[in-house]
Amino acid sequence: MTPAEPPLALLAELTHRCPLRCPYCSNPLDLARASAELDTATWRRVFNEAAELGVLQVHFSGGEPLVRRDLVELVAAATASGLYINLITSGIRLDANRLARLVEAGLEHVQLSVQDADPGCGDRFAGLAGAQQTKHQVAELVREAGLPLTVNAVVHRQNLEHLEGIIDLAVMFGADRLEVAHVQYYGWALANRAALLPSRQQLDTATATIDAARARLAGRLIIDYVPPDYYAQRPKACMGGWGRRFLNVTPSGTVLPCHAAETLPGLHFPTVAEASLSDIWYHSAAFTRFRGTAWMDEPCRSCERREIDWGGCRCQAYALTGDSARADPACALSPDHVLLAAALNEAQETAPDFVYRQHTATAPQRERTPQFG
Ligand code: SF4
Ligand code: FES
Repeated sequence: MTPAEPPLALLAELTHRCPLRCPYCSNPLDLARASAELDTATWRRVFNEAAELGVLQVHFSGGEPLVRRDLVELVAAATASGLYINLITSGIRLDANRLARLVEAGLEHVQLSVQDADPGCGDRFAGLAGAQQTKHQVAELVREAGLPLTVNAVVHRQNLEHLEGIIDLAVMFGADRLEVAHVQYYGWALANRAALLPSRQQLDTATATIDAARARLAGRLIIDYVPPDYYAQRPKACMGGWGRRFLNVTPSGTVLPCHAAETLPGLHFPTVAEASLSDIWYHSAAFTRFRGTAWMDEPCRSCERREIDWGGCRCQAYALTGDSARADPACALSPDHVLLAAALNEAQETAPDFVYRQHTATAPQRERTPQFG
């Protein structure tokens, strides 16, 4: 087996706390409490270890990273380690003063989420009245601060009709880049799949809308587009391959190859208290389990794409088949591809209410969807 290369990027999930309650959140159903979060000093050590390991970029994520009172200190710590810093945020509670301090500490890029183009719908998906209005103010602040801005829009059955408006919004915000990503079905999104999965016709319309916008806005707005796995013939190389490019540290310090890996049974994912990032990256059983191609069975083992998509997504394979070592069912060569057909049928039926993201000691419940605006 070729030796592992160092990772390029660290996703630092600073907290699972969040003012929004998006039903497609990829956080686990069992959200970490504030009391379990890593403290400032531990994150400082993690950033140092990441830089020593070869990581170039850190993406501050959550939950909502802005709820961390020490965010400015954390940005300063990552800057001192020599990392490029990107903030992935809903923008809620970001004001000019805080942004100025973050920029002074070394923040270099902002990714701002939008839930829809229509304010009422945006607030409904976010589960927070007034959320959409905040985006306008935050985009303006980011532009005034001179930082590059990416708008992140997760699209699904209930907002695809407004895709044109979402693109217009990104232009109005003065964004450099727009990432339009179909929901990936892990965590809360999987619990809400029947309410979120688009129809084939919606997907085809969206693809045409994106193609037209790319041509119209060339040189003005870069548009990245992540199509939905459930309509794919071949899977994506999830995370660029297991343990090949990225690592993820959860709010309580567990080190993962991807944000959903904790759903996989039988793997122990070490924490930053148990070992260094370097040890975990190169030597832990969890990171080596699906690295490369040696673990693969047929049809991946003899497939010419095995070093292109690395067998697809391990978490999706587990979520759909109960076996994390099978080919991703998104692949038409997988014997489990048929499993997607049942899910796609759900997209033809009336959408159920959302299970909104929430910290809860009991099983998450569907709630009557609130109306805003
Ligand atoms: Fe990828 Fe495996 Fe499908 Fe080949 S068989 S395309 S390696 S998932
Ligand atoms: Fe875990 Fe794809 S999300 S491997």
